[in-house]
Amino acid sequence: MKLPSFLKPRPAFPFELVKPEIERVEELLMEQARAFDPNVEGYISYVCNTSGKRIRPALAVLAGGATGGVTNEHRQLSIILEMIHIASLVHDDIMDGATIRREMPTAAAKWGNALSVLLGDSLFAYALELATQFNESSICRKIARASRDVACGEILQTQRRFDFTLSMEEYFKIIEMKTAALFASATELGARLNGRSDSVVTSMYNYGNRLGTAYQIYDDCIDLVGDEKEIGKTLGTDLAKGKLTLPMLFLLRDATEAQRTKLQRMVLKGEPMDTTILASIADYAGAIEHAVNTAKEMLEEARKDLICLDASPHKEALVTITQYLDGLLDQCRTSV
Ligand code: IPE
Ligand code: IPE
Ligand code: MG
Ligand code: MG
Repeated sequence: MKLPSFLKPRPAFPFELVKPEIERVEELLMEQARAFDPNVEGYISYVCNTSGKRIRPALAVLAGGATGGVTNEHRQLSIILEMIHIASLVHDDIMDGATIRREMPTAAAKWGNALSVLLGDSLFAYALELATQFNESSICRKIARASRDVACGEILQTQRRFDFTLSMEEYFKIIEMKTAALFASATELGARLNGRSDSVVTSMYNYGNRLGTAYQIYDDCIDLVGDEKEIGKTLGTDLAKGKLTLPMLFLLRDATEAQRTKLQRMVLKGEPMDTTILASIADYAGAIEHAVNTAKEMLEEARKDLICLDASPHKEALVTITQYLDGLLDQCRTSV
């Protein structure tokens, strides 16, 4: 049974173990706005202080804790990754024409596209400026590389809008770049900052990469089956903007020739679409099921990446995050 949205809790990740650390990151984020011109400060604090889930900071801190201990460098990494993430959301909301983010009006809805492009740019630039403060220059280089991946992933996605020749491999490449890159940076660099061996660093990279990929697949399912009030952001933009996400790729793959033609004609209209229309044309529930299972397999692999770590509460928390996402994915099925 579908609960009314006001009865459903918003997804809250199990970050209890690092709650004090995340609170510190929140304070540090708030302080960053002061580094900007007083006439710009208000825009920065608006986008930084809204209630994001802070997944990337939590991963950086947990990866630190699971590989030797949390230091100030992990806190610094956390705010840098969160700022890059926020910058990418400011730009993404312009492209998607989204009006609500983190339960608040998007920057684009408040101040228009021109200002929001520059706001995103200044956040990207400031995050990279902060990244130069690490003693080890390879950390800064890797952070800069990940932010390039995020932007290029968004470019590839934009190039392939309404393109029905998009393959699943190409889809995976796009979401690894636009989303998993920051997850993987959080966990990889969390271990690297503790001077861990290449094999541990690689395993932590793989964990973040798989978790981030599974998370984007979940987000792509939510864009179809989710409830805007519960999730706190504009949904349904993927189809309206011609983004062919994994559930849609499965739907098209498993459709008959006639069903595929109908589906393509609907998508090419470029309008928000009621998913009951999709369900009336082809096996919509089956497509969501396939996407959910693909993400769950990835989470299974992500858990294996953690085997190299000694037992610790932080390692346990990294396992718990994959199980929590498993649960969210299961709910996608029941909301069809
Ligand atoms: C949203 O990321 C964009 C995606 C990569 C799916 P989050 O779901 O982490 O967004 P916030 O930070 O909690 O708002
Ligand atoms: C993720 O893609 C955006 C970035 C990684 C920048 P989406 O467009 O699906 O993200 P949401 O759904 O708007 O948060
Ligand atoms: Mg979007
Ligand atoms: Mg989305």
